[in-house]
Amino acid sequence: MPTVAQFFLCGLLAVSARGQDYDGSPRDEDAFSYVQPENTTILGPYGHSPPVFPSPHATGSGGWEEAFAQAQDFVAQLTPEEKADMVTGQFGPCVGNIVAIPRLNFGGLCLQDGPLAIRVADYASVFPAGVAAASTWDRKILYERGFAMGEEFKAKGAHVALAPVAGPLGRSAYSGRNWEGFAADPYLTGVAMEETIRGFQDAGVQATAKHFVGNEQETQRNPTYDPDGTVTDVLQEAVSSNIDDRTMHELYLWPFANAARARVASVMCSYQRLNGSYACENSKILNGLLKQELGFQGYVMSDWGGTHSGVASIEGGLDMNMPGGIGAYGQDPKAGSFFGGNVTRAVSNGTLPESRLDDMILRIMTPYFWLGQDRDYPTIDPSSADLNTFSPRSEWLREFNLTGPRSRDVRGDHASLIRRHGAEATVLLKNKNNALPLRAPKTIAVFGNDAAENTNGPVNQDTFEFGTLAAGGGSGTGRFTYLVSPLAALNARARRDGTSLVQYWLNNKQVATSSVSDLLGVPTQPEACLVFLKTWAAEGEDRAHLDSDYSGNEVVASVAKTCNNTIVVTHSSGINTLPFANHPNVTAILAAHYPGQESGNSIVDVLYGDVNPSGRLPYTIARNGSDYNAPPTTEVTTNGKYDWQSWFDEKLEIDYRYFDAHNIPVLYEFGFGLSYTKFNISNVRAERVVQAIPSTPERLPVQPGGNPALWETLYNVSVSVTNTGPVHGATVPQLYVTFPDSTPSGTPPKQLRGFEKVALEPGESRVVSFALARRDLSYWDVVSQEWVVPEGEFTLRVGFSSRDLREVVRVTLVE
Ligand SMILES: *[C@@H]1O[C@H](CO)[C@@H](O)[C@H](O)[C@H]1NC(C)=O
Ligand SMILES: *[C@@H]1O[C@H](CO)[C@@H](O)[C@H](O)[C@H]1NC(C)=O
Ligand SMILES: *[C@@H]1O[C@H](CO)[C@@H](O)[C@H](O)[C@H]1NC(C)=O
Ligand SMILES: *[C@@H]1O[C@H](CO)[C@@H](O)[C@H](O)[C@H]1NC(C)=O
Ligand SMILES: *[C@@H]1O[C@H](CO)[C@@H](O)[C@H](O)[C@H]1NC(C)=O
Ligand SMILES: *[C@@H]1O[C@H](CO)[C@@H](O)[C@H](O)[C@H]1NC(C)=O
Ligand SMILES: *[C@@H]1O[C@H](CO)[C@@H](O)[C@H](O)[C@H]1NC(C)=O
Ligand SMILES: *[C@@H]1O[C@H](CO)[C@@H](O)[C@H](O)[C@H]1NC(C)=O
Ligand SMILES: *[C@@H]1O[C@H](CO)[C@@H](O)[C@H](O)[C@H]1NC(C)=O
Ligand SMILES: *[C@@H]1O[C@H](CO)[C@@H](O)[C@H](O)[C@H]1NC(C)=O
Repeated sequence: MPTVAQFFLCGLLAVSARGQDYDGSPRDEDAFSYVQPENTTILGPYGHSPPVFPSPHATGSGGWEEAFAQAQDFVAQLTPEEKADMVTGQFGPCVGNIVAIPRLNFGGLCLQDGPLAIRVADYASVFPAGVAAASTWDRKILYERGFAMGEEFKAKGAHVALAPVAGPLGRSAYSGRNWEGFAADPYLTGVAMEETIRGFQDAGVQATAKHFVGNEQETQRNPTYDPDGTVTDVLQEAVSSNIDDRTMHELYLWPFANAARARVASVMCSYQRLNGSYACENSKILNGLLKQELGFQGYVMSDWGGTHSGVASIEGGLDMNMPGGIGAYGQDPKAGSFFGGNVTRAVSNGTLPESRLDDMILRIMTPYFWLGQDRDYPTIDPSSADLNTFSPRSEWLREFNLTGPRSRDVRGDHASLIRRHGAEATVLLKNKNNALPLRAPKTIAVFGNDAAENTNGPVNQDTFEFGTLAAGGGSGTGRFTYLVSPLAALNARARRDGTSLVQYWLNNKQVATSSVSDLLGVPTQPEACLVFLKTWAAEGEDRAHLDSDYSGNEVVASVAKTCNNTIVVTHSSGINTLPFANHPNVTAILAAHYPGQESGNSIVDVLYGDVNPSGRLPYTIARNGSDYNAPPTTEVTTNGKYDWQSWFDEKLEIDYRYFDAHNIPVLYEFGFGLSYTKFNISNVRAERVVQAIPSTPERLPVQPGGNPALWETLYNVSVSVTNTGPVHGATVPQLYVTFPDSTPSGTPPKQLRGFEKVALEPGESRVVSFALARRDLSYWDVVSQEWVVPEGEFTLRVGFSSRDLREVVRVTLVE
């Protein structure tokens, strides 16, 4: 196994032996000079992605050996044209399609969105969004959700789910797609990736870890094409995420290591450029980081239209071009493909080694055989083809055999699971004088345009004024078969409890500008005033602000003027500033994010205490929106081709790492969340579980997930957790590591490295343990290109949030 450094060397030699790319696109190693031939200072210290060639061939190691051998047999029987078909998407019934090869009994591949539902489908469930699932901090729920979604994808005949999401990670509070992913922390996101991927794949469906990597904003994520030119004429290139090596390893790459370790079938490369070179042709990230360093054995597929070259991309590590056509979003199949016939030609004339093309197909077919997708896999539901607006039948160039029952109901009993997950995901941020849970209140009033039914047609394809939000927009949304609104669920509960649900005011403008006491028009005020706020976000656009939409803050202010028990619920893509948080009449605040189809039932279960809230924030809520750093790059007003540069100069300081490093007070910190009961923590212990700890890992053969030595447990930390309150409930003890002073500068003051959800009866105690792996206790050393355990004393703190750390233990690993 060559070391990374050796690999770079042979990579460079290999490059100089190769020819120019035939389609005229820049080679990866040329990107720097291509991008800025005369003036390198514009790109500063970044803007260069080192060449890493050749693309490492898969071996099937790490558990896929048998499937790899099946894939080898398969590849050996393919004609050159069939080989090109295997790596090139075609417009067809699914969002992405690889055509069938009937003579080999291969039925093709159906790729479907997305991370919270099979989107292009009828009679399918809409699950809580990634940000909600992450708010559970519950490994079991994350797995269950992945498994249940996998069951639905499979029953609809989808082989590949375009989920889950670890990019965006959440560098910026404003990024439009943060809700599709999990948490603004690599550790929590890494665990969520692993559990979700295992869930999907245990259900028999290939998972796709996306978007690789540095996809932290929507603005200018794709090039600006010349509307008067041909489909490839670019006026301005996509934004370049310029990320230093240490930050890449410790933040953005980290959760993808978990994904590789979980044997994820596929990784989707992202739209934007990385250090000046498009992610889908960036040999450093695809060949170097993903396939070499992380030992990824599956295939890299492009984001839709994210391919910008043929052989250059293939040599850079791209294995599958989706959806196959050229241009923005690959939307013009008739314009040809960078792959397809170009691949056949490039092999036949010696530009592209056939062994690399074979490697691409081996990578694609190994997970297919590993998951048994060659045996009795359900057919594609023909109804998906009708719902697929992305590639309507009129645009199909190839034949698809759509047999099997139409409009299959694949929802099973997932509704109850979604209801429970939605409730478990709800984060209770404030609960003054135990305003919650509600105890059969006599009267309730409801306010806000998020409370009730949508009045504007299809839900969640766009934002709309009236109606509750339970998912965001874009390819990551879902197609609801029903949606329980908060008001519908409250009505049902009121009937049961004999509550008078006084009235409801759903017009935000009216509530914000009226006297609520006039609106109420009754002598006694309601026992509780519930305010439902919403915040929309969608793929393709970053958020313009962090407030709730439709003057949500003014709605709360107006209600709280009159009602001394104002309870606010937010249905939101993520971070909201909450200027009303300390208002004396705002007694409770719940962040419910996007909970999926059972939204109303989930929140009512929490409001009434049928479910004791145990969600925790997967990000920080600042006191003021202007406190957040690292905004998306948006204000580029010049029109130079390469002017969109996003400098990740904050390095490791995103979210709580930033607030902690600068001692900035926050409103609600990362990891925070309340319960209807109380917990205590005691008896922290740290036990070394290996004898000697050298500062660098033993160089073991790379396995999926990287050097297995990085995953070896070095320390076992345990604490005793007690429910000291009156009712059953769950809490999330969290472990944060402070690295020794010898660690290079820029190391965040503390970093999450362990958590566990634990449910306890009143008075019950349980010992919870956290296994600290070598990676958890190392920093990425850019000089040696290795994870290094620093010398000196580590401080390990355990508590109930990133700023409520109660138990401390200090350990020295390396003298
Ligand atoms: C190989 O074929 C491609 C596409 O036809 C062409 O652009 C390229 O120049 C050819 N290379 C050689 C070495 O003939
Ligand atoms: C290169 O770019 C920098 C930054 O924009 C500018 O200050 C400098 O004058 C440029 N140098 C040349 C030779 O154009
Ligand atoms: C990007 O550039 C920085 C600065 O030179 C370097 O540390 C990092 O390794 C590069 N990353 C990639 C993926 O090219
Ligand atoms: C090959 O790629 C070029 C773009 O470089 C494209 O114009 C052409 O249509 C492609 N050929 C095929 C057969 O798809
Ligand atoms: C179409 O699919 C059905 C059911 O899977 C199969 O029996 C039939 O042979 C297929 N026809 C073609 C032309 O592939
Ligand atoms: C809180 O509500 C009461 C009515 O119960 C009202 O009199 C008071 O002014 C409100 N407080 C604020 C700060 O608006
Ligand atoms: C809230 O208002 C109600 C009705 O006016 C009153 O009975 C109650 O004492 C008030 N609660 C607080 C905490 O001020
Ligand atoms: C938030 O920050 C802005 C800009 O620094 C400032 O103008 C504003 O007053 C702050 N708002 C609050 C509520 O502190
Ligand atoms: C909570 O734990 C601490 C030790 O961390 C202990 O001193 C304290 O007495 C405990 N409190 C309760 C209520 O159990
Ligand atoms: C870690 O410690 C806990 C509590 O002492 C124990 O139950 C568990 O088995 C230990 N795990 C390892 C890997 O040593």
